[in-house]
Amino acid sequence: MDSSKLSLLASWMKQSKYTVVLTGAGMSTESGIPDFRSPGGWWRNIDPATVASRYALENRYELFRDFYIMRINTLEGCKPHEGHKVLAEWEKRGLVHCIATQNVDRFHQEAGSRNVYELHGNIRTVRCEDCSNAAELKEFLEKKPCAKCKGKLRPNVVLFGESLPYEALDNATHSISKADLAVVVGTSLQVYPVNQLPELCKGKKAYINLDTGRSSSQFDLVIEGSARDVLTKAEMLLD
Ligand code: OAD
Repeated sequence: MDSSKLSLLASWMKQSKYTVVLTGAGMSTESGIPDFRSPGGWWRNIDPATVASRYALENRYELFRDFYIMRINTLEGCKPHEGHKVLAEWEKRGLVHCIATQNVDRFHQEAGSRNVYELHGNIRTVRCEDCSNAAELKEFLEKKPCAKCKGKLRPNVVLFGESLPYEALDNATHSISKADLAVVVGTSLQVYPVNQLPELCKGKKAYINLDTGRSSSQFDLVIEGSARDVLTKAEMLLD
């Protein structure tokens, strides 16, 4: 990894008065969770329209439910890695103001980050699709219907064909619009509207990703490497 790029990132972090981090599935692969579009990613084997869409929820509920049960079970035994912890530590030290994430695993919060905007919801909590009542995750895993109305239980995740949670998107949009520095980590930037967010940043923009070929042209600094590696090495330069 190019050490001059790491030094530049560290110096931008120190100079910036308002830094926003935007993360995607590549942030969690080193915790053992597959991403979506890399070889081995979820969407390499499964068409998202058949399992992760409003259509699936409405018309193919069992398939939808089985897919999300599998996703939730994948989290078992997995935990945030050092890179997540570095971001949480940077927030404590005032070096990061917030994290906008497409990830639904809640690893940022588990690592200690507080100001986290969940742009695609999460798969740790569940509600009834019909009456919106909150339910226990266990009930969903046990394939139970809603205790109140017998409706369909679902994770609080954003499905294809659904809008993003207004507050999270609004907070992320405002934060990135006023940021001196946006650090984008582990996302292919292929999914709208989150892929539009980096363009709103008027300050400096850094991109940390294993594969930087496709989406890197708008960035001032591109670091090819794993999220954990780059973040932990940058942390050493910030001491
Ligand atoms: P993708 O799978 O599209 O992209 C993940 C990116 O992270 C790829 O460019 C990988 O090369 C990179 N990557 C993988 N492991 C990495 C690592 N250890 N360190 C750094 N980079 C790594 O995932 P997202 O961009 O997050 O939405 O996908 C966006 C949305 O598409 C997801 O939130 C999900 C999906 O459909 C919904 O389900 C609504």
